[in-house]
Amino acid sequence: MPLTADHPLLDGRTGTSPLVRAYRGDRPETTPVWFMRQAGRSLPEYRELRVGNEMLEACLTPELAAEITLQPVRRHRVDAAIFFSDIVIPAKLAGVEVEIVPGRGPVFANPIRTATDVAALRPLDPDSLAPIREAVARAVTELGSTPLIGFAGAPFTLASYLVEGGPSKDQLRTRTLMYTEPQVWASLLNWCADIAGEFLVAQVEAGASAIQLFDSWVGSLSEQQYVRRVAPHSKRALSHLRGFDVPKVHFGLGGGEFLGAMHGIGADVMGVDWRLPLDEAARRIPGVPLQGNIDPALLGAPWRILEAHVRDVMERGESAPAHVVNLGHGVPPETDPDVLTRMVELVHGGL
Ligand code: CP3
Repeated sequence: MPLTADHPLLDGRTGTSPLVRAYRGDRPETTPVWFMRQAGRSLPEYRELRVGNEMLEACLTPELAAEITLQPVRRHRVDAAIFFSDIVIPAKLAGVEVEIVPGRGPVFANPIRTATDVAALRPLDPDSLAPIREAVARAVTELGSTPLIGFAGAPFTLASYLVEGGPSKDQLRTRTLMYTEPQVWASLLNWCADIAGEFLVAQVEAGASAIQLFDSWVGSLSEQQYVRRVAPHSKRALSHLRGFDVPKVHFGLGGGEFLGAMHGIGADVMGVDWRLPLDEAARRIPGVPLQGNIDPALLGAPWRILEAHVRDVMERGESAPAHVVNLGHGVPPETDPDVLTRMVELVHGGL
């Protein structure tokens, strides 16, 4: 399905924006920058809006989700908005009981661990995505020439929350299931791929100018297991976007050892965490635009130390055909928002 002529990528709004140009392999005059988790608890205006609103309810209230999406763009002048939502929203919309426990993360009332559990999962009714489409459309209208990035959780990361029943350090139960019940595993990951894929399509159709697939917990896998038991499903998630000419970014924490395999699922741009210097990432996957990879730990360091690190990241980023500056993972909630604004100015000022 092609994009319609009134999509921001095609009607002159975002097609030549620095972010989209960089995602397509070009080097715009100013290096684009945005931050994973820029919409969230580091902003006092976010905390204020969230008072009395449960996290997942906020995600499904279009006015609120759109407003929270816009907050970091207004404040920091970043080159992109990322849609305020959560990777568990498609599961919730498909009828799975989940809540986000503050400071902890997604918690599922009934973890998915057996063939029967997996067989009971229902497909996502496209109509249930209406609040997502509306929130995206509202945000995109306000954003004008600033692109909106849509996103979804990759099947492995989504499945690990479903199997564990909540956040976990090493995804042990999930990996046990992967090894011992390959067929149950494959059905579960296909279900995750399809709900993630439909979530992405809804955002793109409503006006997102790029998407990012997050495989946050992929670092607990070996390359062999990743290639055999995970990558085909991530590829399936992205295949829902076949025919839509939107840049696709893929990011995984701790995936540096198999960056090539991660890129191989059909990504155009690779997000890199802080563990792997960008010049080394560029050596591993030549010709691929990169995004990253400021160490979030340095957001709390004195400015001169952070500044030197940002400059180093930008220099190393020159080894790639194109570079979008970002953190190596999300903004920690305790970050001073003024530091983020100052970093945007630094990146836009150039080396
Ligand atoms: O600014 C943005 O990046 C956009 C919004 C966004 C959120 N979650 C909002 C959120 C995005 C892109 C996500 C993705 C997400 N959610 C991922 C992948 C990215 C990553 O960080 O690795 C994952 C693994 C989740 C699951 C999740 N949701 C966790 C682990 C948590 C708890 C984190 C915490 O610090 O409390 C959440 C909750 C969540 N998602 C919050 C926000 C703003 C905090 C909710 C609150 O206000 O209490």
